[in-house]
Amino acid sequence: MVSRVIPVEAFDLVIFGATGDLARRKIVPGLYRRFKAGQLPASARIIGAARTAQDDDGFRAEMRAAIREFLGDGQDESSVAAFLDLLGYVAIDARGSEGWAELKARMRPGVVHAFYFSVAPALFGDIADRLADHGIADQDSRIVVEKPFGRDLQTARALNATLARHFAENQIYRIDHYLGKETVQNLMAVRFANILFEPLWNAQYVDHVQITVAETVGVGGRGEYYDHSGAMRDMVQNHMMQLLCLIAMEPPYHIDSDAVRDEKLKVIRALEPVSADEVVRGQYLAGRDGPGYLDDAENPESRTESFVALKVHVANWRWTGTPFYLRTGKRLRARTSEIVITFKEPPHSLFDDGGSHKANQLVIRLQPDEGMVLTMMIKEPGPGGMRLVQVPLDMSFADALGPEGSDMPDAYERLIMDVIRGNQTLFMRGDEVEAAWAWTDPIIAAWEHGTKRPEPYDPGSSGPEEALRLLHRDNRRWREIRS
Ligand code: BG6
Repeated sequence: MVSRVIPVEAFDLVIFGATGDLARRKIVPGLYRRFKAGQLPASARIIGAARTAQDDDGFRAEMRAAIREFLGDGQDESSVAAFLDLLGYVAIDARGSEGWAELKARMRPGVVHAFYFSVAPALFGDIADRLADHGIADQDSRIVVEKPFGRDLQTARALNATLARHFAENQIYRIDHYLGKETVQNLMAVRFANILFEPLWNAQYVDHVQITVAETVGVGGRGEYYDHSGAMRDMVQNHMMQLLCLIAMEPPYHIDSDAVRDEKLKVIRALEPVSADEVVRGQYLAGRDGPGYLDDAENPESRTESFVALKVHVANWRWTGTPFYLRTGKRLRARTSEIVITFKEPPHSLFDDGGSHKANQLVIRLQPDEGMVLTMMIKEPGPGGMRLVQVPLDMSFADALGPEGSDMPDAYERLIMDVIRGNQTLFMRGDEVEAAWAWTDPIIAAWEHGTKRPEPYDPGSSGPEEALRLLHRDNRRWREIRS
């Protein structure tokens, strides 16, 4: 398979918070990988901006270490050196005046200007004001902002309003890194580049949908952030909601950013409210290989959930009658993200198969081992009657696509390149984020006002028992969490 790497145009990318974890772990290593792939023009410039007083060389040395740490020791030194030549650094005070004149002096006219706000949301407004006041950003500049985008509707609205003081919506790139995952984009390809599924993609033929994002890691190391967030804010309001939208949305008229986002927004708006009592919340216990949630969060009284499972209805013509079950959690049995579409049984059974018939399922594995499985009923080989057996049509993208399939770009690589290209399709629009909060807010508020604790669950399990019952009550089962 021939790789098509189309270089982006010349740019100055300023990373605020350049010495922080995200820049070291994802943004700079991702840019390096794009550089190696030939996508960055020689005239690209990446300017780190943070409080730390250091010069260009100090920053380069730090980023050299980050590339080694996160991409492995075996990097080709001459490529790394050539990449580091694109980097510069400005010590800046987000709330003061230091560094802004120097930053302005470094920006070149006639190239794309992008500003990555890899900082706490509390600083968004200060940075946006200074970029505008110093004449560093103009109506062609782009800004990139990370989640968490607010912690409820009110704070998200306030953030949107803050950014809107200086930037139009088409300049704002709100990152949900799930949208940058190759397989998540594949959801659109599977649905809209094939005729096979779309005619069946509705309540008439789909019995139910499961979306699982299971992690084996706990919240150790980021307990303080997480304890103020919980799985509902950290995963459901954004990543899970995006997956749900891509599965449930109507075909957009074009793969244009607003056309896609309009359709996603309609899904969020069509979600029926869910009562907080109907959502399963869990908290992991201590296990042999790690502390429990309460210790990780350093808060023995915490009622924050590290697991959620819920049933959601998309109340529209296409989906009424088909439940969507979502579940996500930390310290579960395996790290796996997958979407399972379970189709209905054929209307009439020809075969006397003694109840062995199983409904077709389309399993889309988002990570790891990205691929798709379609389960089919076929005849069990051998004489003596017509017995049926379920078999998988199993496709791993790595096998199907060859070496390229096993070296997929990280989500951040793709998303940053989209910012430079000016393509907002894989970024969340302000109204989408607000609609998602409007739906999750009442659930979270009810939990916060209540006294009920999340159900404990064992690390290495599939979550609390109640999550299993959520489906059993409907005569359904979760697909097993396995790697
Ligand atoms: C982040 C969440 O947005 O996504 C984390 O804050 C979570 O809690 C992570 O672990 C999961 O991302 P991925 O790419 O590892 O599935």
